[in-house]
Amino acid sequence: MINVTKTYMPDKEKYISYIDKIYESGWVTNNGPLVQELESRLAKFLGVKNIVLVSNGTVALEIAYRLLKLKGEVITTPFSFVATTSSLVSNGLKPIFCDIDKESLNLDPKKLEERITDKTSAIVPVHVFGNACEVESIEKIADKHNLKVIYDAAHAFGENYKNESLLNYGDVSTLSFHATKIFHSIEGGALIINDDRLVQDARYLINFGIDGPETVKALGTNAKMNEFEAAMGLCVLDEIELIQEQRKELYERYFNALTGIVEIQKKNENCTNNHAYFPILFKNEQQLLRVVKILKDNGINPRRYFYPSLDTLPYTQDSDVMPVSRDVSERILALPIYPGLELEVQDRIINIICDYHKEHDIYFEKK
Ligand SMILES: Cc1ncc(COP(=O)(O)O)c(C=O)c1O
Repeated sequence: MINVTKTYMPDKEKYISYIDKIYESGWVTNNGPLVQELESRLAKFLGVKNIVLVSNGTVALEIAYRLLKLKGEVITTPFSFVATTSSLVSNGLKPIFCDIDKESLNLDPKKLEERITDKTSAIVPVHVFGNACEVESIEKIADKHNLKVIYDAAHAFGENYKNESLLNYGDVSTLSFHATKIFHSIEGGALIINDDRLVQDARYLINFGIDGPETVKALGTNAKMNEFEAAMGLCVLDEIELIQEQRKELYERYFNALTGIVEIQKKNENCTNNHAYFPILFKNEQQLLRVVKILKDNGINPRRYFYPSLDTLPYTQDSDVMPVSRDVSERILALPIYPGLELEVQDRIINIICDYHKEHDIYFEKK
């Protein structure tokens, strides 16, 4: 089966040489030398001031909420991976959804102000599929209402907005380094923190709040990345240019072949594209399900991503209905894209989608 993504496995000899070093030192976790090296290399690569590595992207969000002392209601997007909302609920915060723009698929700033109440403490938008949010509009509204902004940037690794890192927007941006992501450390994640004064607090929070052998300074948790994960991150980072080139080629081949046939997410023109995902939108769910069946019969396993809309979760059902997010989540399909995907397989995927649309005389009319 060809899946929607495949974990990138970097040079094995290099990984083994890191493992040898870990065995020699016996330092396997607790801010070891490889975690420190990965932090400083990633800060340079991404163009950010402060980065704190953690064990995954979900805890990165949770630490960010605690770091910024969020309370009450938090406005977020219903069109994301479940962790964006579940992390709020499991930290005692109430997600208030703000519907998305139907072309960018990101939280729609035009609908944001009407969702703000006197209980709102923050906004948690997502750069969906690596598409930059309207960061300036969001910042303006947040400043006006004195709200914190945390970007779930799990999909936005390595992107620049107006020539600087997209991750520098908001109070905090969080990343996921899960095995399925462009850059990965098996499991892992990071916080990008704008205010230098909060960095040390984040380091306490990820290590039980411990300040020294006999002092606990704050209520913390265990969110540390270990040395084996950092070693994988260092190896993948060494090959990141190759990974980016291969993704770009695949993305452009899909884009050229499928434009005008299916609907494609409208990208923010001020932002670079990391080619992390290639989602397509069908006219309706029925068409999507038919094409999924044909793809599966041909050994291709795409993913309904994101599905379902988060306003339908068992623990958010008291929220207002989000019509745009529900509609998009029923019609969207992420196609396989990863380094090593053979062009012949990609052509097969493209042909199946094009043939279905031609046979049924369905086209996406460009506005
Ligand atoms: C948008 C988004 N947020 C959060 C996460 C959670 O990251 P992790 O799997 O590293 O916990 C993911 C992971 O896939 C994601 O796609």
